[in-house]
Amino acid sequence: MALCENDIYTLSNSGDLPDDKLYELISTDRFDSLLYSEADRIRRERYGDAVYIRGLIEFTNYCKNNCLYCGIRRDNKAAERYRLDKEQILSCCKEGYRLGFRTFVLQGGEDPYFTDERICDIVSAIRKEFADCAITLSIGEKSKESYRAFFLAGANRYLLRHETADNEHYQKLHPLEMSLERRKQCLFDLKEIGYQVGSGFMVGSPYQTTENLIADLRFLQKLSPDMIGIGPYITHKETPFADKQSGGLELTLRMVAILRLMFPYALIPATTALGTIAPNGRERGLKAGANVVMPNLSPVGVRKLYELYENKICTGEEAAQCVGCLDARVRNAGYRIVTDIGNVKR
Ligand code: SAM
Ligand code: FES
Repeated sequence: MALCENDIYTLSNSGDLPDDKLYELISTDRFDSLLYSEADRIRRERYGDAVYIRGLIEFTNYCKNNCLYCGIRRDNKAAERYRLDKEQILSCCKEGYRLGFRTFVLQGGEDPYFTDERICDIVSAIRKEFADCAITLSIGEKSKESYRAFFLAGANRYLLRHETADNEHYQKLHPLEMSLERRKQCLFDLKEIGYQVGSGFMVGSPYQTTENLIADLRFLQKLSPDMIGIGPYITHKETPFADKQSGGLELTLRMVAILRLMFPYALIPATTALGTIAPNGRERGLKAGANVVMPNLSPVGVRKLYELYENKICTGEEAAQCVGCLDARVRNAGYRIVTDIGNVKR
């Protein structure tokens, strides 16, 4: 039977639909307004109008990997590389704390300079100075021992998008030396150690099919992550995908809303990539069920260099300006930024 409004209510009441219904829902814009209003209703039931902020510190753009879509891949010889040192990272946290952040996200390429010892040193320094804050790492694939060492040093959350849950699709997006199995293993290792785990995928990445998106949702059901980050794929001219199209706003918003209905408890950011493909992309993300924003706390001098994709927003603003701007955007959308560690509500 063709998809109808009742199916949307089934999704919001039960958190699931069979594959054929999901396929139709992902492929049509006919139910978008009902989908968004249901997503907003479910989000308000669990989280009210609160929007959590995470301070993003992009501390290195060196990367030993060569993901075909990514602007900081090792073969992009045009990228100007930088690293922040411990003192610079701590001063980003200090400014962030003053502005009301209680979560710091340290994100970077897979940079061999940052050995486990250096990461642990940085994490424990942040832990010591900001005892009431969550420390999130997003530094890619590591061994279970490394993840455990970071955890013992004081990190409590980890973001690692699976990118796509379909093996064939994964191979089209990554060089041969990378594998989906390994990435999934990392995610399960992180959970076992006790991290709050975030995963996710790009929407509209090259060669992605609707079946791939369903596979992403099914994988997330298995993983049951605390955080789910999705954003449109955006093309970068210094990558092998220079001639590929970027992902679309509508499909990304639809996927955000579907995620909210399937994972009512989840922390779902309105991502920078969403704000990059449309001027009000993040506001629309919030209205479609997202409940987190991640303003940039990196020093202004390096922001443009952390160029995963082109025309990335917020690269010229000081941290305080970013917070002010986002605060206004969040209020305009009908929500409220809170100063809170922002733990998941399962
Ligand atoms: N190295 C870490 C990792 O691999 O998880 C963290 C940094 S990585 C650059 C962060 C995320 O950026 C990736 O998980 C990917 O989804 C996203 N990303 C990379 N290139 C992108 C692009 N061209 N468009 C949109 N998102 C992109
Ligand atoms: Fe950074 Fe608006 S959020 S300038």
